[in-house]
Amino acid sequence: MTEASSQSGLSNLLHEERRFPPTPEFAEAANYSADAYESAAKDRLAFWDTQARRLDWHREWTETLDWSAAPFAQWFVGGTLNASVNCVDRHVAAGRGDRVAIHFEGEPGDTRSITYAELAVLVAQAAHALTELGVRTGDRVAIYLPMIPEAVVSMLACARIGAAHSVIFGGFSAQAIYDRVVDAGAKLVITSDGGWRRGKVFPLKPVVDEALEKFGPGESPVAHVLVVKRGDNEVAFTEGRDLWWSDVVDKQSKHHEPEFFDAENPLFILYTSGTTGKPKGILHTTGGYLTQVAYTHHAAFDLKPETDVYWCTADIGWVTGHSYIVYGPLANGATQVIYEGTPDTPHQGRFWELVQKYGITILYTAPTAIRTFMKWGADIPAKFDLSSLRLLGSVGEPINPEAWMWYRQVIGGDRCPVVDTWWQTETGAIMISPLPGVTAAKPGSAMRALPGISADVVDDQAQPVPNGGGGLLVLTEPWPAMLRGIWRDDERFVETYWSRFAAQGFYFAGDGAKKDEDGDLWLLGRVDDVMNISGHRISTTEVESALVSHPAVAEAAVVGATDPTTGQAIVAFVILRGSATEEQAAGGEQIVTELRNHVAKEIGAIAKPRQILVVAELPKTRSGKIMRRLLRDVAEHRSIGDVTTLADSSVMNLISQGMSSGKAED
Ligand code: WTA
Repeated sequence: MTEASSQSGLSNLLHEERRFPPTPEFAEAANYSADAYESAAKDRLAFWDTQARRLDWHREWTETLDWSAAPFAQWFVGGTLNASVNCVDRHVAAGRGDRVAIHFEGEPGDTRSITYAELAVLVAQAAHALTELGVRTGDRVAIYLPMIPEAVVSMLACARIGAAHSVIFGGFSAQAIYDRVVDAGAKLVITSDGGWRRGKVFPLKPVVDEALEKFGPGESPVAHVLVVKRGDNEVAFTEGRDLWWSDVVDKQSKHHEPEFFDAENPLFILYTSGTTGKPKGILHTTGGYLTQVAYTHHAAFDLKPETDVYWCTADIGWVTGHSYIVYGPLANGATQVIYEGTPDTPHQGRFWELVQKYGITILYTAPTAIRTFMKWGADIPAKFDLSSLRLLGSVGEPINPEAWMWYRQVIGGDRCPVVDTWWQTETGAIMISPLPGVTAAKPGSAMRALPGISADVVDDQAQPVPNGGGGLLVLTEPWPAMLRGIWRDDERFVETYWSRFAAQGFYFAGDGAKKDEDGDLWLLGRVDDVMNISGHRISTTEVESALVSHPAVAEAAVVGATDPTTGQAIVAFVILRGSATEEQAAGGEQIVTELRNHVAKEIGAIAKPRQILVVAELPKTRSGKIMRRLLRDVAEHRSIGDVTTLADSSVMNLISQGMSSGKAED
């Protein structure tokens, strides 16, 4: 049994009796029926050919999949296309230029609706601007922006000229930007003076400045920083390097003749946490990625582009924003809402106000948000008209049955199918999800692999577990949107994902899962040292490295402890250096606050530990390995498991006493 499955005590879920099939009307009108499973099973590659043909190709591919250099895949070999043409121009050419692509809602309440025809002009001008600034096909562009239309435009402009974007979440620190700019060798950074969050403009450009100051003279690959004006923040400009977006973009020609790129041309790099301190640059390419995001967006959300108003609440800085705000919805010609701010600004009903205002029909959000709304109370959504909603999606972490039921009943009025979608930055697109017009969903289960996808749950020996059993989630066949590698690190790519089940050629997802009595899948969370905080991946090692980079810290151990709202929360145990003052060593508020802020500075506020405990020792095996399992027991207030392998078994008593004596910080 995996660590995750033994922890979660999910055996009761095997007896989940509730079933929520679609209504006959929903099933009747659905984009996909049960036949899709059959046709995909009969000829998987022919199924993907059909999905790829939903896009516009400049040149048709000659081979659907070349897997001869596995695990390095090539999909739609020899095909050429342009992702931005598929997301924008083709809808205009088909006479749908007047359709709204984006209803933007700023946090302060400013709004902007952009039609596909208008989006085409914005992308064309931005593409010309990138070229003028020296960006060429094959180059990398870093994007550090709030949730504003220019974020989407920037990504599409990169795609238009065949440059790869590397979007950096706006909550990341200067150090995190620096690391990503170095690794990707970004030539240009696109940022803004700031973005609105909780009624204030938070700074972005100053953080980029701080990141770029870390380069020695002549070392920085960044030739220019392009700055969108969003707030009224003062920004300092470096002469010759920094430029206002409006000065460079607005003057450009409104027409841009696209080039067409190989299906395997890099589309983007997106960094995600692995089990070491160094984030991995997940590489995605064009044809396969776009095929699968467009297909899954059409299938899992049953998108009707003529009538639906779709809203994905993710940030563009995460893969969900890439696949289900930018590429999937736009490739399908959807009308969507993009919201800049937080759900509680200026009041806790903001999301529901937006649903009512725009008549949102499809909502895609994360369990952590749903649990927060549950906490705030059902009377808040009850004040708004949510009757436009017809489908609800969930992503990012396991959704507990209670949250699933609340989402369905309180938000969905007990009439909307709920699709729990499992996937990863690495998979690029949804892999496991109900088909809303077909599946009788169970609360808390992602159900089955979508047509065209092959997943299984296996034991350590790679044997599929029987129904009712738990084990490791694997993907048994390549899929079009699969990562093509880790940027500049082939070895780590092979080692991380393909070595555990090398003989079988399975992709190891790093997640534990269970098959219930019907063979439906229940995701149980990570089985490695990656935490999932509010749906964000953060590695324990990354936070530990940040902690030990503080001069007062000698050693640190970090665990993800179960948290009722955020799924997991970061709990850190630190040993201070001998040079620490007595007050510091006592683990007082001051040092704890200082360390929490230090982590925020090194990584970003999302990585701030919920609790930090100053301890005298850490539980280690005789070979010196920290036993995080025991620390997790402490952090989750459980009785401590087997300590016989510890070098010093008294250590745990001291640590648990520290935990219960209330040194915890919130
Ligand atoms: C977790 C987010 C359970 C999982 C799209 C995975 C989920 C990691 C689900 C990827 C879900 C995502 N049920 N767990 N529906 N969706 N996860 O790369 O542990 O930010 O490995 O991609 O989130 O996180 P990432």
